[in-house]
Amino acid sequence: MTADPDDLLDWYDRHARRLPWRAPPGSPAPDPYAVWLSEVMLQQTTVAAVIPYFEQFIARWPTVHDLAAAPLDDVLAAWAGLGYYARARNLHKCAQLVANEMGGRFPDTEEALKALPGIGAYTAAAIAAIAFDRPATVVDVNVERVIARLFAVQEPLPDAKPGLRERAATLTPSRRPGDYAQAVMDLGATICTPKAPKCPACPWRSACLGHRRNVAASLPRRAARVDKPVRRGIAYWLEAPDPQTGAPSVLLRRRTSRGLLGGMTEFPSKGWSDDDHGLVLEGRDLDEVVAWSRLGEPVRHTFTHFHLELEVRAGRLKAPVPVSGATWFAIDDLKTQALPSVMRKVARRALGARGGARQAQLV
Ligand code: ADE
Repeated sequence: MTADPDDLLDWYDRHARRLPWRAPPGSPAPDPYAVWLSEVMLQQTTVAAVIPYFEQFIARWPTVHDLAAAPLDDVLAAWAGLGYYARARNLHKCAQLVANEMGGRFPDTEEALKALPGIGAYTAAAIAAIAFDRPATVVDVNVERVIARLFAVQEPLPDAKPGLRERAATLTPSRRPGDYAQAVMDLGATICTPKAPKCPACPWRSACLGHRRNVAASLPRRAARVDKPVRRGIAYWLEAPDPQTGAPSVLLRRRTSRGLLGGMTEFPSKGWSDDDHGLVLEGRDLDEVVAWSRLGEPVRHTFTHFHLELEVRAGRLKAPVPVSGATWFAIDDLKTQALPSVMRKVARRALGARGGARQAQLV
C-alpha cells in the first residue's frame, strides 16, 4: 500500500497547527508577502522562535512596500537574534526588488522565485506551494525524515537526499498542494518527530515501511558527523562616562559588511574571524593601554561551521576617547542595537559582572 496524500490532508484538516502566517486548511491562500517573510525566517530557526519576530515584522511593515522603504539598519535591528544576518540583508534587498520592479507582487512560479535574493530551492518551492497553490515539492529536514521512514530508506544522509526528493515528488498531489506541503511539515513536527515518533497517531502508519519494519525511529540514517572546530577570540567591553551626563557608555564597532555577522554591531573583538582587528587608540594597541580584567569563563556560541569561545575583557576609561572605526554608545540604550546573539552574550556577561541590574534591559 502506498501513502495516500488525501489521508494526510484529512489529518491536516483536523490537526493543522495554527500559525500566524498560515491560512486555515481549505481556505484561500494567504498573502504571499506573509508566506515569503515566514519562510525566510524559518530557514534558520524553529517555528516557536519565529512567531514573535514574524508578528513584529508584520505589525511594523504590513506590506512589501513598507519593508522595502524601511532603513536597512531598522530591519537588521528587528532581525537581531534570528541569526545569519546575510538573510536579513537579502530579505530587504528582495523586498526592494519586488516593491520597485514587480509592482509589489511576488512571482508565482518556483523558477522566478528562485531568482530573487535569499530564496533558494526550498523556499521557492514552499512559497509556490503555500502562497500560489502550485504542486511544488517542498523538502526540508522534516520532510526528509517523513519520506525516509515512509519508504524505509537505509542510505545515510546526505547521499540519500536526491532519492528522498524523488520519492517526495511522487507523492505531491495536484489537489491542495499548498495544504499538502504544510501537512507534511506538520506531520514531521508533531507526529513523525526525530525521537520517539508517535506512529499510532500517524495517518500514514499503514503505508509506512519504517513503521512496519519497526525501524522508523532509527531513520533517516546519517553519515558520521565531522566535529566542528573550536575558535577562540577576545571581546573587549570598554566603558567610559559620558562627559555631559556622566552616564556610562560602551565602545561599539560595526563589522565589515562581508562575511560572518557582516554589517552587524559588535563589542570590538579579535582573533576568531576574517574581520580581525584589535582595538587601536592613536596608534597604540588598547590591549596595552587599558588595565583589562577578564570576566570569568569565555562566552560560548556555536555558528554553522565552528564553535566560538570568546574571552570577555572589561576595562574602563576616565573619558570616552575617540577610537578609530568605533563609537561610544549609552549602555542604557544598548537594547536598541542590532546586536548579534553572541554579542548579547558578551553584554550579559559584562553587565552581570558589574552588578546585573541592567541585565534585564537586554533581550
Ligand atoms: N517550517 C518551514 N516552513 C513552515 C511552514 N510554512 N509551516 C510550518 N513549519 C514550517
